[in-house]
Amino acid sequence: MGPGSSARPGPAPRPARTALAVLLCAALLLLLLLPPPARGAGERRRLACSTCRGIVDRFNQGLADTAKKNFGGGNTAWEEKTLSKYESSEIRLVEIIENLCDSSNFECNNMVEEHEEHIEKWWFKLKKKYPDLFKWFCIETIEVCCPAGTYGPDCLACRGGSERPCHGNGHCDGDGTRGGDGSCSCNKEYTGEFCLDCSSGYFSTLRNETHSVCTACHTACKTCTGSSNKDCQDCKEGWIKDEDGACVDLDECATSPCKDHQYCLNTDGSFSCKGCDASCVGCTGEGSDKCKTCASGYVKEDEKCTDIDECNLPEKVCMKENQDCVNTSGSYKCVCSKGFEDKDGTCVQTVKPGEEVESEKTEPSHTGHDDL
Ligand SMILES: *[C@@H]1O[C@H](CO)[C@@H](O)[C@H](O)[C@H]1NC(C)=O
Ligand SMILES: *[C@@H]1O[C@H](CO)[C@@H](O)[C@H](O)[C@H]1NC(C)=O
Repeated sequence: MGPGSSARPGPAPRPARTALAVLLCAALLLLLLLPPPARGAGERRRLACSTCRGIVDRFNQGLADTAKKNFGGGNTAWEEKTLSKYESSEIRLVEIIENLCDSSNFECNNMVEEHEEHIEKWWFKLKKKYPDLFKWFCIETIEVCCPAGTYGPDCLACRGGSERPCHGNGHCDGDGTRGGDGSCSCNKEYTGEFCLDCSSGYFSTLRNETHSVCTACHTACKTCTGSSNKDCQDCKEGWIKDEDGACVDLDECATSPCKDHQYCLNTDGSFSCKGCDASCVGCTGEGSDKCKTCASGYVKEDEKCTDIDECNLPEKVCMKENQDCVNTSGSYKCVCSKGFEDKDGTCVQTVKPGEEVESEKTEPSHTGHDDL
């Protein structure tokens, strides 16, 4: 194509379409430029604080472990004078720093490496003035933690204030870290943004500006205004209001909800179906004395369904030759007598191993030489 024949100008884009395109581009750009989701960042900040806390804990442990140490004898007078005492020596610091992290703990080793000068500075110059290493290092210097009761990048007070976050009835999200949003996860008794309201199934026993105490309702209540089963607003499932307005146990067994081979057991607020005794066909409770009728193989004796010993009946039940009768619960078995075994339904004499003459020897002789 010659220089003259440049691309033909297309139809001029309509203004509406241009605006839309610009908007889409801007949106895309914004998505690309935005930091990763805030939750991921918050999680990292929380981790950083716990890493720092771990380092300080190990530092204090190291201090305790080296407290009794000394340079040991052998120091010349010159050394005594020139070297600082072990207590605040570099040797002691190095010993402590060496043990701050497990070798596999990447976050910890990273943090120590990055901020080693801070720790040194504190050790040599600041530890008298700022004895709380956690506060100085984690909160104020590298700013990965916040004071208790505060959260987030700027250490803002938790909901309900930093003194008693969530009014002492829950946990403040990000409490003590540079992460979280300060919102409350209330203990199960409490609800609401500030953990001052009572959850369903609890009622208020104390409530003022700063304190709230909620107590569990009676087991019969779903919701309530007080502690007894007369204070229910609604009864829990399995309970019904009686004529006095109290929630009482509903007897589900009155409607016979169980199967024929089961009996019903009513419990507080519920019921269960339990299997009848093996000696029963239908029953009203547990055991062979609660049968409606006895199962076959059982007879009623002293109000109980008892197993019949079929082997002791006047009429013999195992009639084949060389057969014995064995009584079982609810029935009996016929087995071959000792020294006899069953062969196609008759009891024949057991053949002893040595007398096995009739059977042919069919085992192939294996020489171990059958090469290919
Ligand atoms: C609220 O109740 C608590 C607990 O009984 C009490 O210590 C506190 O002083 C009370 N606060 C107010 C403002 O009445
Ligand atoms: C057999 O018979 C007797 C009745 O004499 C009974 O009490 C006993 O429990 C029975 N069952 C078994 C498995 O032995």
